[in-house]
Amino acid sequence: MLLEARDLVKRFGGLTAVSGMDLAVAPGTIVGLIGPNGSGKTTLFNLVSGLYRLDGGTVLFKGQDVTGLSPHRIARLGLGRTFQIPALFRKMTVEENLWVPAIDEPWQAVRRRAAEWLDLFRLTPLRAEPAEVLSGGQQKLLELARALMRDPDLLLLDECTAGVQPAMVAELLEAIRRLRDRGKAFVIIEHNMEVIQDLCEQIVVMHEGRAIARGDLAAVKQDAAVVEAYLGR
Ligand SMILES: Nc1ncnc2c1ncn2[C@@H]1O[C@H](COP(=O)(O)OP(=O)(O)OP(=O)(O)O)[C@@H](O)[C@H]1O
Ligand SMILES: [Mg+2]
Repeated sequence: MLLEARDLVKRFGGLTAVSGMDLAVAPGTIVGLIGPNGSGKTTLFNLVSGLYRLDGGTVLFKGQDVTGLSPHRIARLGLGRTFQIPALFRKMTVEENLWVPAIDEPWQAVRRRAAEWLDLFRLTPLRAEPAEVLSGGQQKLLELARALMRDPDLLLLDECTAGVQPAMVAELLEAIRRLRDRGKAFVIIEHNMEVIQDLCEQIVVMHEGRAIARGDLAAVKQDAAVVEAYLGR
């Protein structure tokens, strides 16, 4: 397994946001993480990527115990992520945002790679603008491009299609599939079931901090616990 998170726990005061959650991701696969609002999906990403300190459990990445490592060190091992609310350098230009994560690499190669991602996500005309002028959807795309600049083996994408124009969503999904075919793995948090259907061979449903179902979309849709989690009693 590329990623193995075991029995993760995270508490905020009296609230247990993640409560004994397991997640395994094989190389070259796309796992869909779904669940109602507040079920702990984003918190799980924050635990796996090292942003939050765990109250329990272990995270193995490429067989190495990364529990408690800083986000920076985990990123350097090849784990990339995007945020539900994009965390860009708003005053820097669009292309500068892409250069930052690769600052220690050969300059020409970095510029070339950045130009390719800008092209793919139709951001080239905006490359010299400050990132704050981008629409919400474009900011999502730029964040994904920024995560890709480090050439990660695993990408955690938190609602990466939210606010992205429908025509661009199709291209984004195609890009994710191509990256998967080149061996990259993804965990995608997504509320759009068409996206989940399109991309994911495996789906994990979270509810109240734990996984209540796993399988393909047809299977989890029919799962009684899933129906109840979404519709309530
Ligand atoms: N930093 C925090 N401090 C306190 N409570 C938090 C914090 N982050 C998340 N929570 C709480 O933990 C629970 C899980 O939140 P989380 O953001 O992980 O849910 P989610 O599944 O990503 O929801 P959504 O689909 O709305 O994005 C919620 O009750 C939320 O209010
Ligand atoms: Mg969330």
